[in-house]
Amino acid sequence: MKGGDVSSISPLVSFVLGAAMATVCVLFFMSASPTRRLADISAFSTGNGTQEGLHLASAANHDNGVADGDTPAAEVVTATPAPAPAPAQAPSPWGDLEEVLQRAATKDRTVIMTQINAAWTRPGSLLDLFFESFRNGEGGVARLLDHLVIVTMDPAAYEGCQAVHRHCYFLRTSNGVDYRSEKMFMSKDYLEMMWGRNRFQQTVLELGYNFLFTDVDVMWFRDPFRHISMAADIAISSDVYMGDPYSLRNFPNGGFLFVRSSAKTIDFYRAWQQGRWRFFGKHEQDVFNLIKHEQSAKLDLAIQFLDTTYISGFCQLSKDLNKICTLHANCCVGLGAKMHDLRGVLDVWRNYTAGTPDERRAGKFQWKLPGICIH
Ligand SMILES: *[C@@H]1O[C@H](CO)[C@@H](O)[C@H](O)[C@H]1NC(C)=O
Ligand SMILES: *[C@@H]1O[C@H](CO)[C@@H](O)[C@H](O)[C@H]1NC(C)=O
Repeated sequence: MKGGDVSSISPLVSFVLGAAMATVCVLFFMSASPTRRLADISAFSTGNGTQEGLHLASAANHDNGVADGDTPAAEVVTATPAPAPAPAQAPSPWGDLEEVLQRAATKDRTVIMTQINAAWTRPGSLLDLFFESFRNGEGGVARLLDHLVIVTMDPAAYEGCQAVHRHCYFLRTSNGVDYRSEKMFMSKDYLEMMWGRNRFQQTVLELGYNFLFTDVDVMWFRDPFRHISMAADIAISSDVYMGDPYSLRNFPNGGFLFVRSSAKTIDFYRAWQQGRWRFFGKHEQDVFNLIKHEQSAKLDLAIQFLDTTYISGFCQLSKDLNKICTLHANCCVGLGAKMHDLRGVLDVWRNYTAGTPDERRAGKFQWKLPGICIH
């Protein structure tokens, strides 16, 4: 991995690295190959209602310039010809975002969001594991999929999303970053991408929606909302949880983040974005750490750090399957390693859900340890 020598990075950054690598590694696996996507989609198309989406997406594809220079010549030759002209441009710079949010939101205007690119949408990819966790989950967690908005950053991912899910949004980028190619950790484009995601979250708040952002390498076994306090303006998962949910000493992980839309949280996001220039060159999660004290005091903002007993990850693994709600493949570098360990986790989970109440209570089912990252 070109992203580099993990050991030479400061401890704080290396916490961030786990989450960040999910994005970086997948970008690496993406082959900006417009010809392949139709085959990918037909392989797992659900048939219904996707046709229209495909046409729109194709139009968007041409609209948004497959303008990279790296597409191999052979693929250019076989590229499908441009279909009908692009649909009329929506007046809002966010296009149909409001429509998608409205469709997916709960009655109290909450959406679940994740963000993906093309490699995640392939059969057998992380997106499959993500969906599988919901479907094998307990207590109605599968119903939460109705409120999931999948944000895609390239046309192929958008089409892949349309084939398997109802609420897809294509985030058109205006900053000139081609999201399909590999971004080296902490490179200029990488920062642009992570800050872009942050800015997008602010927009969702400004439109009046609460969101729970989840990385796609988070497995959802039970409804995590029951552990998010009514009193919290922001609830964020912990790489390391120290025992007090409101202590700012906990180590946050933005890969699982709930934010309630309010004037306070929008101000917090403004300060967060400004922090980009105040602490020039920093990653957005570092800036969160740098401003959390002053801003939570200034804005009277309640930041809840989620207990890893329930909202867990490989960094600090919850070993109690009776309690766990979500499990994030953090502190884990490399797509292959994540997939390997998450498959193992799902295997154990399936056995657990088939167990009798007595077996479950007695702790008969345990994660298989160690994996590549999980321990
Ligand atoms: C497919 O579409 C038809 C009519 O549009 C609908 O009745 C049917 O339930 C849909 N099937 C699925 C699997 O969505
Ligand atoms: C699941 O249960 C089956 C049948 O008891 C067993 O053979 C298998 O090893 C179990 N898998 C895991 C991952 O524990």
